[in-house]
Amino acid sequence: MKNMSSMGLIFENGKLLILDQQLLPHQEVWLTCKSPEKMTQYIQALKIRGAPLIGVAAALSLAAFAKNGANLNEIISAAQMLRKARPTAVNLMAAVDRVVLNHVNGDLTVDTIAQRAEAVFDEDVALCDAIGEHGQSLILDGDGILTHCNAGGLATAGIGTALGILRRAHELGRNFHVFVDETRPLLQGARLTAWELGRLGIPYTLICDNMAAMLMRQGRIQKVFVGADRIAKNGDLANKIGTYSVAISAGHHKIPFYVAAPPTTVDRDCPNGKAIPIEQRDPDEVRAKKSPATCDVYNPAFDVTPTELVTAYVLDRGVILRRDWDLQ
Ligand code: MRU
Repeated sequence: MKNMSSMGLIFENGKLLILDQQLLPHQEVWLTCKSPEKMTQYIQALKIRGAPLIGVAAALSLAAFAKNGANLNEIISAAQMLRKARPTAVNLMAAVDRVVLNHVNGDLTVDTIAQRAEAVFDEDVALCDAIGEHGQSLILDGDGILTHCNAGGLATAGIGTALGILRRAHELGRNFHVFVDETRPLLQGARLTAWELGRLGIPYTLICDNMAAMLMRQGRIQKVFVGADRIAKNGDLANKIGTYSVAISAGHHKIPFYVAAPPTTVDRDCPNGKAIPIEQRDPDEVRAKKSPATCDVYNPAFDVTPTELVTAYVLDRGVILRRDWDLQ
């Protein structure tokens, strides 16, 4: 297989490495991923994360497993295990099905698994580029832009979705300022988006999640760009918990709310947001240092934003206004 690399993943000489996103930004530690079991654990621990990237990582982990001599039954059970590592981002299921599970009675050789996994990686890079190119035209000089969570190079094999748009606009010389929601409880905004924007030289200010509405009222935010983990057939979308609140605030202040995503995030079998499975995570992620150690906690990792709150979807095929969203 050819060598491939992105901001958070390296596939080199048959070895798969991931950048431990739980340790960023203060430590940059690359972990070797020797088996699908290990990859499943890394995905569950959010050492590797972001909807498109967990699909790519699962695909490459299956290809490496096949190359290392796993038999058909082992590959199929590894695929079933990886598919269940996290429930919300449909990219994970789509990639595993595409590489292995759609072919259980057909073309399942080491070479076809490897070719399909490479294609998953390459296509994600190209999809991010296309999203960035379409989306950059929405950003104007002087804009204040809010983003939530991390939908950047750390979350994809390419330049990212929502952050890929900002990156492209910056490369084209557009002057704008990004407000980064810290993104409780795991701080993907404060740790990862801030790290990425700093490396890209894009001016940004970190804010607590509960400050966004006030900044909108102050006129400091002109647009919101977020990614998605699953977009249902009717356009409802799941994204990191807090996205729904951002969308409501944007709607109230008449600020455009854009959702950037590749087609691998769209689930045609899912009729609407109610049918999207929402991952519940460990209560300790939420308990603050000063909370009682046993206090009751509710910790959904994602929420659903109804399509009515979306201004437009930025896809690889263009900017699609909500009223034109039609998957029929
Ligand atoms: O729990 P995470 O960090 O995997 O959640 C990630 C998000 O919610 C992203 O916004 C989404 O996956 C889009 S990434 C291009």
